[in-house]
Order: sequence, then structure tokens, then C-alpha cells
Amino acid sequence: MRIPLIAGNWKMFKTKSEAIAFAEEFKALYKGTDVQAAICAPFTDLDVLVEAFRGTAIGVGAQNVHFEDEGAFTGEISVKMLEEIGVDFCIVGHSERRQYFAETDETVNLKLKKLLSGSIRPIMCVGESLEQRDSGALFDFVKSQLEGGLAGIAPEYMKKIVVAYEPIWAIGTGRTASPEQAEEMCAFIRKTLIEMYDEAVADEVIIQYGGSVKPANATEIMNQDEIDGALVGGASLKASDFMNIVDF
Ligand code: PGA
Repeated sequence: MRIPLIAGNWKMFKTKSEAIAFAEEFKALYKGTDVQAAICAPFTDLDVLVEAFRGTAIGVGAQNVHFEDEGAFTGEISVKMLEEIGVDFCIVGHSERRQYFAETDETVNLKLKKLLSGSIRPIMCVGESLEQRDSGALFDFVKSQLEGGLAGIAPEYMKKIVVAYEPIWAIGTGRTASPEQAEEMCAFIRKTLIEMYDEAVADEVIIQYGGSVKPANATEIMNQDEIDGALVGGASLKASDFMNIVDF
């Protein structure tokens, strides 16, 4: 039985005081749901969010982490640093990090392995560009991201990983994948996990859809069989919008 995960991805939005204001408003609206809700916030907001959501079922996630334990890596944050704050999730390999910060399948793989050695659940992002979709290369591309990112990860760790399918052309564009397109790729991802692992392992993995999810389209996306949640950017910045998605 997979418990859906609906996670907000705030990207580089919200100062600490703005995060506190969001948390107060969201907590007041939150009555508990059948899904797990979480907010993935900038590093500077994580401690106040963990504090604000303590005693609730609302999780907190980071948006990136380094793959070394510690060292001379100016500007980076380690798994241990996140663990001490009490973070539940960490996004890895978001397309914006792949595009602007040289994230590759190899670094995604190293980060996943480091997270899996501790307590934080990775949310691993995959997804094709518009060119790849139009040329028909979308399935091969997503398969290569899964094979590269998950290389050497043992089956017993796989169920801790959340896979987020985020077609690049649908992120921040207002152009959502149709429920059928999202379902088709999420089913393909599960089929690929069956090939890489087995049916029992693949059956436990949460597969999210992300890309212009908003209150108006959350229900039809969440109603798809192979979609177990959403990664929500823009619409997670407003407490009432995010609540409407979590409560789809
Ligand atoms: P969006 O972003 O919901 O604003 O399209 C999704 C994401 O990048 O995770």
C-alpha cells in the first residue's frame, strides 16, 4: 500500500519570516489527509519549518545536498547537517539543478547513496525536454536517467526513494502534461523499476508527477493509477492553494 506524497518545492522563494507565516497559515488549514504532505524549502528555512510542523504529519525537505560527508566544499551542505535539523526528504537531480548547476546522473547517484546511508528519503527527479518528447526519445531518456541515477542501489534501499517524473516542458510553464501523458510515463517508470529490480520492489516506490500542478488539475492527476503524488512548485507558495492540492 503506497501512501501518496504531495510535496511542495519552494525553489529559491521565501525568507525565514515568510516561511514562518506560511507554516502558521498552513497548519491552521491542515486537518490531516490520506496523503503525506511536505514542504521542500531553501536551507535557511528548514529549521523553522521543522519547528513549526513538529507534532503534525507535515514533513520538511531540502532541495539539494552534497555527496561527501564533509570537507572543503564552499557553499555546500551535508547529509549530517540536514539530519541534525530533522529533515525528512531531500530533492535530488531537479531539472533546474541539472540545467544550471551541472548536476548529472553520476552526482545524482552519489547523492542518493549518501542520503540512503542515513535517515532522509530522497526525491529523485527525472523527466524529458520538449525536444526529446517531440523526437520520441522520451522513454529512452528517462530510462537512462533511472539507470544512471540508481546504479548500484540495492533493492532494500529502493523503497525509500521517491521518483518524481517532471517533464521539463511542464515546469513553471503553466503547461501541464495531460493526465494520460503523466500516467503513461509513470507506468513506464514503474515498468523500468520492475526490470531493474522486481515487481515487489517496484510496487512499493512512490512515483510523483510534477509540472504545473495546481488546485484545478490536482484531482485528475492524483486519480491516475500509477501516480502516487505530486511535486508542486509555484502552487505550493500559497498556503491555501497548496492545501487545496493536498486535499484534492
Ligand atoms: P511548477 O514546478 O509546479 O511550478 O511547474 C514544479 C517543480 O519544478 O518541481
